[in-house]
Amino acid sequence: MDKTIEHKDYLFKKVYDYVLHRIERNEWKEHEKIPSVRQLASEMNVHRLTVLKAYQLLKKHDKVYVKDKAGYFVQSIETKHLENLNQNNPIVSAYLQKNHLSEIHQSAVSYQFSQALIDPNLLPNHYFSDYVKKVFDLYPKVLATYSTVQGDLELRETLTQYFINQYKTHISADELLITSGSQQAIHLIAQTFIKPRDVVLFERPSYSAAIDIFKAQGAQIVTVDIQPEGYDLQQLELYIQQYKPRLFYLNPTFHNPTGYTVPVEQRKKLVELAEQYRLLLIEDDAYHDIYFDEPPPPPIYTYDSAGTVIYIRSFCKYISPGLRIATVICQSSLMNALLTAKSLADNGSPLLNQKIFLHYFSSLRLQQHLEKIRIALQIRKEIMEEELAITGWQWTSPKGGLNLWVQLPNNFPTELLLSKSFEQNISFVPGQVCDPLKQLSSWIRLSYSYANEKQLKEGLKRFVAVAQSLAK
Ligand SMILES: Cc1ncc(COP(=O)(O)O)c(C=O)c1O
Repeated sequence: MDKTIEHKDYLFKKVYDYVLHRIERNEWKEHEKIPSVRQLASEMNVHRLTVLKAYQLLKKHDKVYVKDKAGYFVQSIETKHLENLNQNNPIVSAYLQKNHLSEIHQSAVSYQFSQALIDPNLLPNHYFSDYVKKVFDLYPKVLATYSTVQGDLELRETLTQYFINQYKTHISADELLITSGSQQAIHLIAQTFIKPRDVVLFERPSYSAAIDIFKAQGAQIVTVDIQPEGYDLQQLELYIQQYKPRLFYLNPTFHNPTGYTVPVEQRKKLVELAEQYRLLLIEDDAYHDIYFDEPPPPPIYTYDSAGTVIYIRSFCKYISPGLRIATVICQSSLMNALLTAKSLADNGSPLLNQKIFLHYFSSLRLQQHLEKIRIALQIRKEIMEEELAITGWQWTSPKGGLNLWVQLPNNFPTELLLSKSFEQNISFVPGQVCDPLKQLSSWIRLSYSYANEKQLKEGLKRFVAVAQSLAK
């Protein structure tokens, strides 16, 4: 390589990094004037054009702005809803992200309020052993072959029929992809449709693994608050116009972590907005069947006629987390792109798991199981609410799902609460973990679905005692 070009590039990078570090470390504050091109060139002993080029790139990356005849100024991080991404290298910043949730889950505790999982004792374990035997009798070569990449046709046809019966939609088995859990579906979608620096919309708060997956892909996240009554759609439209996001990842039914459900009118409007602005909606519907009294509104994808929704439905939570069965439904051009990613990821989900799942899913037991689980979870939710009643903390009682999203008093020492709780064998999820902006520190997520009734009562009594001692 030409040595002069190499040296010039080096100097340019040096200037760029020098300015960026000062801004990132807040040494040069928002709207403060930075040194003139001439001044910095002389301080760093480089050509003025080198400084100019670095300033222009910093401007392009929204780190500085120019005022006519007055020079360059530090750009404000004006948007509270826009996560602070390392623009210099989004991939590096993605890998530097720590997944605090998996750290929390790694600790073995007696009072488990951090896992959004259903108590294994409530799942249909013993039926599965029957089905394993049955599957080997029916398909003796089940382990001697791959599944198709898209997923076992028999299973896709059964699921297609199920969705048609449930929602009167017109879909075919070609529009379904079987994935290894919805987590893999989210991953495939991020890999397929997102490149570094693409803007994606996320609910705030949101499912923390999805935040990590999109960040690892280098996405820049813009947040939309989710409230008990849904989103502020006017605000959402403004963000769509302003940031031109590629997609909106949403979990509109018994949302994790809040338990909120987006109302029907908003679902229809979301589809209109998505069509108008050519935005993909990624509807993650892991909790749809886990309701207490009334079934939730139909999924957003049932209102979509233009193919703008990618629908993800997991069956892991209430059938078997271990089988890792979820399905993605979308129109064919999106499906083709996802199939390529799926074939590269694992060449198709394990056939044995799909067949075992199919036999359980097609049986009458599923309905009975769901009825049982809804009652058991509602009782556990009520126990949690009763035990927390004396605290004066705030939450909106969820009508389904697995979690209570609880607001503690302002400035409550949540991190200290977490470490003291661990000492007492109790775990929960601090709100920060669920926030793409890593704030929301006075919120916590408490799952009522994993611990049994006795553990809930005992563990929550201890937990409230720990919290009260800190409040003093
Ligand atoms: C909203 C949401 N999506 C996806 C997942 C992942 O579930 P799965 O087991 O299907 O990968 C979870 C698990 O907590 C979740 O809460």
